[in-house]
Amino acid sequence: MKIAVIGTGYVGLVAGACFADTGNTVYCVDKDPAKIEALRKGVIPIFEPGLDVLVKRGAAEGRLLFGTSAEEAVAASEIVFMAVGTPPSATGEPDMRYVKGAAEEIGRAMNGYKLIVNKSTVPIGSHRMVADWIAAHTSQPFDVVSNPEFLKEGTAVDDFLKPDRVVIGTRKKEVYDKMAELYAPFVRQGNPVLWMDPVSAEITKYACNSFLAARISFMNELSALCEKVQGDIEDVRRGMTTDARIGKHFLYAGVGYGGSCFPKDVQALLATAAKLDVPLGIVAAAEHANARQKRSLAEKVKAHFGRDLRGKTFGVWGLAFKPNTDDMREAPSLAIIEELLAAGANVKAYDPVAEENAAKLLGNGARTCPNAYEAIEGADALLVVTEWNEFRHPDFARIRKALKQPVIFDGRNVYNPTAIRELGFTYFGVGRRGPSA
Ligand SMILES: NC(=O)c1ccc[n+]([C@@H]2O[C@H](COP(=O)([O-])OP(=O)(O)OC[C@H]3O[C@@H](n4cnc5c(N)ncnc54)[C@H](O)[C@@H]3O)[C@@H](O)[C@H]2O)c1
Repeated sequence: MKIAVIGTGYVGLVAGACFADTGNTVYCVDKDPAKIEALRKGVIPIFEPGLDVLVKRGAAEGRLLFGTSAEEAVAASEIVFMAVGTPPSATGEPDMRYVKGAAEEIGRAMNGYKLIVNKSTVPIGSHRMVADWIAAHTSQPFDVVSNPEFLKEGTAVDDFLKPDRVVIGTRKKEVYDKMAELYAPFVRQGNPVLWMDPVSAEITKYACNSFLAARISFMNELSALCEKVQGDIEDVRRGMTTDARIGKHFLYAGVGYGGSCFPKDVQALLATAAKLDVPLGIVAAAEHANARQKRSLAEKVKAHFGRDLRGKTFGVWGLAFKPNTDDMREAPSLAIIEELLAAGANVKAYDPVAEENAAKLLGNGARTCPNAYEAIEGADALLVVTEWNEFRHPDFARIRKALKQPVIFDGRNVYNPTAIRELGFTYFGVGRRGPSA
């Protein structure tokens, strides 16, 4: 098949590369010329494990093409994916300007029937808006199908090649059949391609992210209870996750959820529900708890060192919103560092891949370092904020030597509190049992 993908970001590039890898010809379009220029030279603009191999193979075999103009790509394709960003606006509703812009460009470029696939996460009812925006610029026939994306940054390639399920929102059987054919190579082991109406498909995406956000917030709230009563959230988690009805995913207490999806999708669902006067109390509570949780690690620092942190320096390990990505959008590290800086502290931070993206966002008084140990040299404490693998078994003797005071704030419960305390550290986790219990 010939496919155009409008928007070559985390989702568009992964989708394009994976479709090209199954033999399709894919035209990836982005309005950012620097991104396209880099991709044409074989430079992948984002960090995503396994993506470079696919992109290079597709490009070398002439099946993955990059350009800045939708016109040529749309004209040459039968299926057109929209994978542009839908960032939050001031009201919490997604900013639809990129979707509108892409729809209008697609409309102007149409030279015959096209199947337009909405892969961006968009508010409920957007399939109709997109159809109107396209129709305003063409008299050619087309269908709009909602096909939300569930990939996770860090494992995006694997998720796309082996999805738990594919959701296809359309009322037309022939549209569903075409989409099912396109996805068939990825669901050979029998994972379902779910056919539903477009509104339900749009809701499904928000429902999944809000539900996962609620699971995280549930554990974060319980972790605060554990701290008060000398329980241990890790024991509680094990007790819960061995219940088959609950399952084991997204039940880790930490510094709160971040990233380009959960915060904005939770807000978007709440904004839609508020407009329709439908109470979504659980979703609202998840967001509220997360806002509190993002400040909790800095609060622990202040409880230990005092609220005035002038003259103190903190070493932060991990800046990306989660491991295996360079994405800094809504990263909890930003909120934590902001709180520390506001209290007068200095911050030195290290991240294996997000350093460049983070450096643009950090306030005065914070700087990035080229390695983990440099970030804690002479610091008053270490804060572990993102659970990159390389932080799991560090050289604790070296940490002790580097730090002015042997204090660790473990925002991801990476370490065993008892073992760390035996090494002479003062240890604070999230919902972990204290030293005296
Ligand atoms: N990142 C994720 O993990 C993820 C997962 C599932 C769904 N989503 C959703 O997918 C969508 C895309 O997310 P992303 O993270 O890939 O965004 P992104 O910001 O990484 O990429 C979007 C790209 O679209 C480009 N763009 C905007 N308007 C354009 C136009 N008119 N023509 C060509 N290019 C244009 C931008 O330059 C940018 O490169 C969002 O709606 C997001 O919510 C993201």
